[in-house]
Amino acid sequence: MRVVLLIGFLSLFQIAMQPTIEIKQSKTQTFYDRIADVHNLMMQVNGYRKSVAKYLESLDLKIDESSLVLDAGSGTGIVTLGFQSAGFRPKQSIALDLSFNSLKVSREQFEKDKQTDAKNIAAVQGNVLELPFADETFDLVLTCGVLEYVPLETGLKEFARVLKTGSKLVLIPIKPSIVGSVLEILYNFKTHSIAETEAIAENWFEIIENSNFPFTEPISWSKTIFLLEKK
Ligand SMILES: C[S@@+](CC[C@H](N)C(=O)[O-])C[C@H]1O[C@@H](n2cnc3c(N)ncnc32)[C@H](O)[C@@H]1O
Repeated sequence: MRVVLLIGFLSLFQIAMQPTIEIKQSKTQTFYDRIADVHNLMMQVNGYRKSVAKYLESLDLKIDESSLVLDAGSGTGIVTLGFQSAGFRPKQSIALDLSFNSLKVSREQFEKDKQTDAKNIAAVQGNVLELPFADETFDLVLTCGVLEYVPLETGLKEFARVLKTGSKLVLIPIKPSIVGSVLEILYNFKTHSIAETEAIAENWFEIIENSNFPFTEPISWSKTIFLLEKK
């Protein structure tokens, strides 16, 4: 009887929470639809693409012409562009984001960029909490600055679901710091602590490293890096 009551209560709680999550997502989408061009301009001047490319180049990611790669919460495409500048040429990359305008800007970027193999990159509108892909689809998931908008555990679990066993997740979250606190206000998200990220990630991933970008690079002021491997 108690168990039945508990299950009933949890279902009611989930139903009550669903509209709140959906409203939050729709606000995030509208926000990024509005700022897509400005965000893209900032990304072009701040050098993040080069920093991401240098870091990815340093890894043994085992990507070849048969690989499938997901950039989850791709925004205007900076991480996929960095991945391409690092010389990786997978069979297919998917750039996925809630914001249609950001995806449109990313598509334009991919097409005009000489270092990028645009024909093998698809821009897809979607939600990182309900990825429209089967279990164990991807050889690599890249994600930067999106888990701050969603419950960390649900997001990491979903990335683990679509990754093949033994494949990597390159997670580039906002670093808890003064800069991070300012960004929380400007962009309306919540950073996750390093300890919390490690504790939750360990449910599905082996933590290979938590490292920082060289402090001379502007990306190091706001971001840190986790290299994770799906267990
Ligand atoms: C800070 S931007 C980062 C964009 C890009 N990864 C970068 O590094 O420039 C956060 C992005 O996450 C996207 N986003 C937020 N919540 C999302 C969700 N639930 N599913 C998919 N994308 C989401 C936003 O639309 C936005 O483009």
